[in-house]
Amino acid sequence: MSRPLAGHPAPEPPAGYDVALSGRDSVLVAEVVTDDGVADGLAAKGHLAISGDAGQDAVADRIFTLPRHRRRGLGSVVMGALTAAAAQRGARTGLLVASGEGRRLYERLGWRVETEMVVAHWTGDADPLE
Ligand SMILES: CC(C)(COP(=O)(O)OP(=O)(O)OC[C@H]1O[C@@H](n2cnc3c(N)ncnc32)[C@H](O)[C@@H]1OP(=O)(O)O)[C@@H](O)C(=O)NCCC(=O)NCCS
Repeated sequence: MSRPLAGHPAPEPPAGYDVALSGRDSVLVAEVVTDDGVADGLAAKGHLAISGDAGQDAVADRIFTLPRHRRRGLGSVVMGALTAAAAQRGARTGLLVASGEGRRLYERLGWRVETEMVVAHWTGDADPLE
């Protein structure tokens, strides 16, 4: 999926949540935390790498919201924080490979499908190439 970074929605975290951005060089990390007293308070997280010859692309990866925090807008907060930071660093176009659930989120945020993909996992013991 892809979308221009300009104009990407960047909602504020809902009440009870905060978002923090970290990372170094061209890899950014956004974390949404809450003080609900469970574990480390992590509610949602995502990563983004700035790529391309001129740093024009922003590739989002490992975007997730812990199950008990879903459908509260946190995935949107993570995507908004990452894409805004990437745009500030000069990137122009967002790229990602979406899961089925992720696709619903990204479509809501204005991303569009470039192509369908099938991801295969080898789960057997034997080497399939032998
Ligand atoms: C995909 C995921 C990150 C969404 O996180 P979230 O915090 O629930 O997302 P939001 O609350 O910001 O969702 C915003 C909107 O996206 C759409 N949406 C998000 N998840 C959806 C789902 N499972 N089914 C249908 N629509 C969905 C809805 O329009 C939603 O708005 P609404 O709740 O008002 O209807 C979360 O379900 C998840 O972690 N899934 C497992 C990991 C995964 O697949 N990550 C994506 C990898 S590409």
